Amino acid sequence: MTAALHSERASFGVRLASEIDFAGWRNAARALALNGIAPDRVVWTVGEAVADLLGARGGELPAVPNGATLNVPRDFIERSETVICHSNPQRFGFLYRLLWRLQADRNLLGIASDVDVRRFEAMEKAVRRDMHKMHAFVRFRQVGEEPEARYVAWFEPDHFILERNAAFFVRRFTGMRWTILTPHASASWDGERLLIGPGASRQDAPAEDAAEELWLTYFRNIFNPARLKVKAMQAEMPKKYWHNLPEAELIPTLIAGAETSAREMIEKMPTVPAPHHAKIQAKHWPARNMPAAPDDGADATSIPELRTAANACRRCPLWRDATQTVFGEGPEDGKVIFVGEQPGDQEDLAGKPFVGPAGKVFDAILEEAEIDRQKVYVTNAVKHFKFEPRGKRRIHSKPNAGEIQACRWWLDKELALVKPDLVVALGATAAQSLLGKPVPITKMRGKVVEREDGLKVFLTIHPSFILRIRENDEKEAERDRFRADMRAVRELMAA
Ligand code: URA
Ligand code: SF4
Repeated sequence: MTAALHSERASFGVRLASEIDFAGWRNAARALALNGIAPDRVVWTVGEAVADLLGARGGELPAVPNGATLNVPRDFIERSETVICHSNPQRFGFLYRLLWRLQADRNLLGIASDVDVRRFEAMEKAVRRDMHKMHAFVRFRQVGEEPEARYVAWFEPDHFILERNAAFFVRRFTGMRWTILTPHASASWDGERLLIGPGASRQDAPAEDAAEELWLTYFRNIFNPARLKVKAMQAEMPKKYWHNLPEAELIPTLIAGAETSAREMIEKMPTVPAPHHAKIQAKHWPARNMPAAPDDGADATSIPELRTAANACRRCPLWRDATQTVFGEGPEDGKVIFVGEQPGDQEDLAGKPFVGPAGKVFDAILEEAEIDRQKVYVTNAVKHFKFEPRGKRRIHSKPNAGEIQACRWWLDKELALVKPDLVVALGATAAQSLLGKPVPITKMRGKVVEREDGLKVFLTIHPSFILRIRENDEKEAERDRFRADMRAVRELMAA
């Protein structure tokens, strides 16, 4: 953002870096207001070309008088961040006028009859509606084949909402690689990073193909029958859309089945956490309450730092219903890392890996194999407990490929910090995370696989497999085999 004085009457040209340069607007508005420069003396522009037309060269904003502060209601600043996404080219000047008027009347926004206030509210509402529409109407098309596939969507929002909406799509499709193109900007997610790029045109998006299935899945997903309000939905989704969209076929079925689906959905709904869960969650409240851009741990130089960053992780939806992130534990210079699947019910409450029933089996067999658990690093492929509620019980549910992939971010960082000589994959989920593809564990157990980066991965079963065997002899036999595997690990550690 730059500003220049460009006439005798001292009008100011403010050039913002982009259509949604809120920081630039805020900075300029503050300096102008503190210098008593009235709104009608300011010309707001975006980007290079327009500013040049006005003859404004890159100048400086008027200096802020020493010690001067501007008192702006927080509510106004927050709502302006939404309003600045509105497509009205006059919005910057309009927002500055409101800010100017707020200096004389701090309670201005409460005056419902004021024309500016009404306009402010209408603009805010329009941007929000547009954001909701985008959630519902973005349609991805598959480009390329799995596992290389990318999903691309073309969307024309009414306002500049792509950046503001991107976090929603990251949350919804963490496990996929996708790109959303709009005329104003594009957003790309590669499974780990969100990139905002330049705008595109419709031709840049792939044409119709067979990937409607993904969209249908998405649509079923966002369509919550428990909250179904047919009228509101029809208002949100005008008839003209109903004809063109593949999901139009789905709508009558969904409406007809709404009651049954609602019942099923309620049965499946996460139970309200028991009071002791809520207490533990409350301990992590600042983390749970964090906005969409979490501390991603990229700069962490130690396991404790990494653990703190992971408390705020939002890379996949599992954080929502779990009590807390269960991070790895053990010496930072451990020679061996054991990787399980995900925390279970008891781990979720304790915040520590392998402390429940599977952990008891694990501990006992490590001891029999003369491996000191205190000397090894123990973690999981997925750091949040995934479960289905059944009344008061929480039934373990397997993490899917997207969740495993999302959480690999943390496992990779643990590996990079601890730098073990050997990693033990306990079961299929750990193996898939460490080797990047499904591995037939029963065939491969007891073997060491060397990754391209040289990391040695020992494959074995998950200790909970032993717990699930009912027949006593068989259980003993499986226990013996696991013990033998752990002895082999111990040999490798000594080597
Ligand atoms: N199962 C796992 O894979 N990890 C745990 O931490 C507990 C049970
Ligand atoms: Fe993040 Fe892993 Fe938890 Fe998903 S399971 S939210 S990726 S820590």
